[in-house]
Amino acid sequence: MAGDTQATATAHVNVALVKYCGKRDTELVIPWTSSLSMTLDAFWTTTTVRFCAEAGEDQVTLDGAHLTGEPRRRVTKFLDLVRPRTSRAGRFVVDSANTVPTGAGLASSSSGFAAPAMAASAASRLPLDTTALSRLARRGSRSAARSTIFGGSALWHAGHDDESSYAEAVPAGEGVPFEPVMVVALVDTAHTTISSRDGMQRTVDTSPLFRPWVGSAAADLKEMRDALAQGNPDGVGEIAERNALGMHATMLAARPAVRYFTPATVTVLDAVLELRRAGVSAYATMDAGPNVKILCHRADADTVAAAVRAAGCPTAVAEVGPAARLVRT
Ligand code: ADP
Ligand code: DP6
Repeated sequence: MAGDTQATATAHVNVALVKYCGKRDTELVIPWTSSLSMTLDAFWTTTTVRFCAEAGEDQVTLDGAHLTGEPRRRVTKFLDLVRPRTSRAGRFVVDSANTVPTGAGLASSSSGFAAPAMAASAASRLPLDTTALSRLARRGSRSAARSTIFGGSALWHAGHDDESSYAEAVPAGEGVPFEPVMVVALVDTAHTTISSRDGMQRTVDTSPLFRPWVGSAAADLKEMRDALAQGNPDGVGEIAERNALGMHATMLAARPAVRYFTPATVTVLDAVLELRRAGVSAYATMDAGPNVKILCHRADADTVAAAVRAAGCPTAVAEVGPAARLVRT
């Protein structure tokens, strides 16, 4: 349509090696803890945003289906942050496609809001730098702050207000060969019954282990930064695994419990332990779902994937992914 502007962006998912869990300010989205992630090449979101003068209301599709209810509201609330900052009249038309299963603990919301953040600001002709984009994406989905711009590893500073809560790239293994791979155990790719947002909020509100977890997460982050800087894969893996299991223990102590583990999850975690006993450097992490991501050396990826398949679970292998980018304006 004449006068419309549009932009298309692609953002990859990121998986936290030191997790974010819960926010101290829900409106501004200020988390309790800083977190650190690895961007994956295997899964991403592509979003086209059109700024359409003729549309009566925002239209949002995901994988070809119109979003309604809460999932749509989550996107339009996010667009409301961009709307007042552009001189263009009319409504957004947002079309996204996820290559990652949605809502299964495989971080679809990280790429699913990073790509719209980049595309919406470009379609609106808002010149945002990487920090501003990270802050904008954070308001859509917390973990999107990390995916927005950065490939490799990203550190999201918890901060104390809108301005100070953003992510930045962190170098890994300067001068040391460090080529981590994540073998993703696809335990169950269906949408979970409890979203990460609701699960984390219940954990913050009711888990007696939450405050201690905040303290241990800070210690994990410091050690993780050291391990990354030294290019120490076993250090990175050990800290990532204990941090993830600590977060899930904290969630399990919520009232009622927030439980993402299934019997198949535990079978995969057992397979990871067996791999380590056999001398393979492999460490597990999990998010808000039953799926397990296994950090290992690239040279061991086939061995790890075979062990997971032998445990009855399909796999995908992900290497370190690229930064988000505009693919068309
Ligand atoms: P996940 O592990 O997949 O991030 P969450 O429960 O954190 O699981 O988030 C899933 C929710 O994120 C979906 O139910 C949906 O509301 C939203 N989401 C994911 N991808 C997109 C997308 N591309 N566009 C809009 N919303 C999305
Ligand atoms: C458990 O970005 O999905 O994967 O926006 O609050 O819904 P909300 O959070 P989201 O957080 C995912 C949290 C996590 C851990 C992490 O990625 O740090």
